[in-house]
Amino acid sequence: MDSRNGPEAPQESNVKSFFNSAPPLRDGDLICNKLKEFMDRISLSSENGSPVRVVCVTSGGTTVPLEQRCVRYIDNFSSGHRGAASTEYFVKAGYAVIFVYRRGSCQPYCRYLPQDSFLEFFDLTEDSTIQVCQSHATMVKKAIRDYRKAVEEGLLLKIPFTTIFEYLQILQMVAKSMSWTATRGMFYLAAAVSDFYVPWESMAEHKIQSAAGPLDMRLTQVPKMLSVLRKEWAPSAFCISFKLETDPGILLQKADMAMRKYGMHVVVANELATYKEEVIIVTKGRRTAVRRHNKETDLEEQLVYLLDEMHYEYIKQGGA
Ligand code: PMT
Repeated sequence: MDSRNGPEAPQESNVKSFFNSAPPLRDGDLICNKLKEFMDRISLSSENGSPVRVVCVTSGGTTVPLEQRCVRYIDNFSSGHRGAASTEYFVKAGYAVIFVYRRGSCQPYCRYLPQDSFLEFFDLTEDSTIQVCQSHATMVKKAIRDYRKAVEEGLLLKIPFTTIFEYLQILQMVAKSMSWTATRGMFYLAAAVSDFYVPWESMAEHKIQSAAGPLDMRLTQVPKMLSVLRKEWAPSAFCISFKLETDPGILLQKADMAMRKYGMHVVVANELATYKEEVIIVTKGRRTAVRRHNKETDLEEQLVYLLDEMHYEYIKQGGA
């Protein structure tokens, strides 16, 4: 029902109350300026004579704080590898990428750096100069060159988040800043987004005490922002969401449902046990399996290639 003519639909009021109760972004003005600068530059660039396409890639898991002065939180599974790898391939395909990522998660062009044995990457020479080990030098040189090129050409903007509150506010800001890109805009929502949260006003301020015994906590459902994104924030953009399940028996059915219910153009379905090896691209009436060729290749390379083609077709058809 139209909210101007009567009571608001439950989804609409859930969205409103989520944003009203969310703590405002600490660096909201800075993000806003960075987005504006990035978009201004992009609007003047071209890709083979046509305006540049822009994709917002979301990556990593959102957290749900349990206390306002947060000591404990609920986390979502995601290393950020898929988003980081996909970002590299989108840049390679000529897209400008807004990489919205969880702080501390995997970064584009740094995916090969070992996190737990970082020091093994370096050698100390006799005169105490630090250098990258010869065995890794080729890889690091390529990563540095690709990263610098992306940044210098103005094709990569990185915006970090941690909590579900930050993530959804940033997604909204990015969507608004991309509105001028119309069908040339794309959303590639690989982040693992919390389904339940504690509203800020009902959250304990201080660390919850264990002396009080077992903890009973009621979590509120996070409104699904996919339909809001499609209908209000970015109605012309090409939207791709991901569907992660652990039960293969329900995966495709849930992906089909996300297509219908949220009006996604593509849903990429993956199963926890095999998500690095295989995904299924679900579109209206079609399912395409994408498998990783071998351990040396990235599944995301093929995935981005196919999505790039679909997006191109979408633009050609005027967003139909
Ligand atoms: O980062 P990696 O370790 O490489 O792993 C990649 C991945 C497995 C996390 C990725 O491929 C993936 O599947 N991401 C989506 C995970 C997820 O949140 O799935 P879901 O089924 O819970 O949600 C489906 C979609 O709804 C998501 O695109 C999400 O953006 C959206 N959503 C979810 C909850 C919510 N409240 N609002 C939303 O809009």
